[in-house]
Amino acid sequence: MREVERVTGRELLRLGSRIGLMAVELGEVRSVIALLYECVLLQEVLLAKAWATNPRPDVEFYRELAASSEWSEVEGRSFAVRVRKLGGFPPASSIELAARVGDAVYDACGGRCRIDLSKPELIVKLVASAEAAVVGVLLLKPRGDRFRLRSSRFKPFTHPASLTPEDARILVNLAAADGRILDPFCGTGSILAEAVARGLEAVGVDLDEEMARGAWRNLKHFSCDALCDVLVSDARMLPFRESCFDAVAADPPYGRLAPTHGLELNSVYERLISESARVLRDRGSLVFIKPEGSGVPRSLEKVGEGLKHLERYPVYVHSGLTRVICLVPRLRAAIRRTP
Ligand SMILES: C[S@@+](CC[C@H](N)C(=O)[O-])C[C@H]1O[C@@H](n2cnc3c(N)ncnc32)[C@H](O)[C@@H]1O
Repeated sequence: MREVERVTGRELLRLGSRIGLMAVELGEVRSVIALLYECVLLQEVLLAKAWATNPRPDVEFYRELAASSEWSEVEGRSFAVRVRKLGGFPPASSIELAARVGDAVYDACGGRCRIDLSKPELIVKLVASAEAAVVGVLLLKPRGDRFRLRSSRFKPFTHPASLTPEDARILVNLAAADGRILDPFCGTGSILAEAVARGLEAVGVDLDEEMARGAWRNLKHFSCDALCDVLVSDARMLPFRESCFDAVAADPPYGRLAPTHGLELNSVYERLISESARVLRDRGSLVFIKPEGSGVPRSLEKVGEGLKHLERYPVYVHSGLTRVICLVPRLRAAIRRTP
């Protein structure tokens, strides 16, 4: 949900860990949906008609929930009800739930609508978990593979340490920049490509010339080069003046797949924070990803812990490795406030 908030710049009312509500004026719906399409972790967008927290498990509860709203959008049209149960809640069958919600919508329209399970004009959706339930009209269900065209499979230059386009996009989205973004450890350029795909200007740095050249090849291949620059340089001493970036998004090396070029890991991360604070504008955010788990130095897990407003989001990779995405909104202020 944080990704959605950062991309749209709007707060969500959290109904549960996986369901959130956003207030949007009618005239803004199209532009907000275009932004939501850019979010990796978002699964569906509904025009919410009714919602509740701590829902009862019985079917009647969901019929009443749907009946508590008017359904003018459905009048004169055909619709089907689809149900999504999060964590297996409620225990009732999806078919039974859909039937009861469908009855309620049909009655609310005074019968001026038609149920069509094969080719409906509208999908009425019930999403439920043990924490919350929401019923509404489905507005957007983005394809999960929409970022795949920039995956390693289609890159002319690849490396085992490459981020997936989805993970790179999450970093860019959390960075919430609207201008210029820096990736100081750009590798094959995954973060840069996602940043440009979101319309940002992007600058990448890598200490390894072969990587920097490879990133540039990839960026040209994906037609991202017009808004991008790649430099060979050391992220510990960035060749930029103060306050010239709106965000820094980084995937620093941790010595397993990506080389540290003989540098001590902890110092690489510490310098990432101090150098980012220097090159970021006042409101700029730092987002970085670091490993946790067996074989990862303990000291790495402490990186950034002293910063105010450090947010941490775990990303499971495999049983021996979890990555954590760390977000520090307004890095400079976070450092100033650190005792
Ligand atoms: C984990 S990889 C980045 C992978 C990249 N996100 C991608 O998707 O391809 C880390 C990169 O940092 C580079 N690197 C290591 N130490 C560096 C330093 N001090 N300054 C700049 N780049 C460095 C490595 O050459 C490597 O390409």
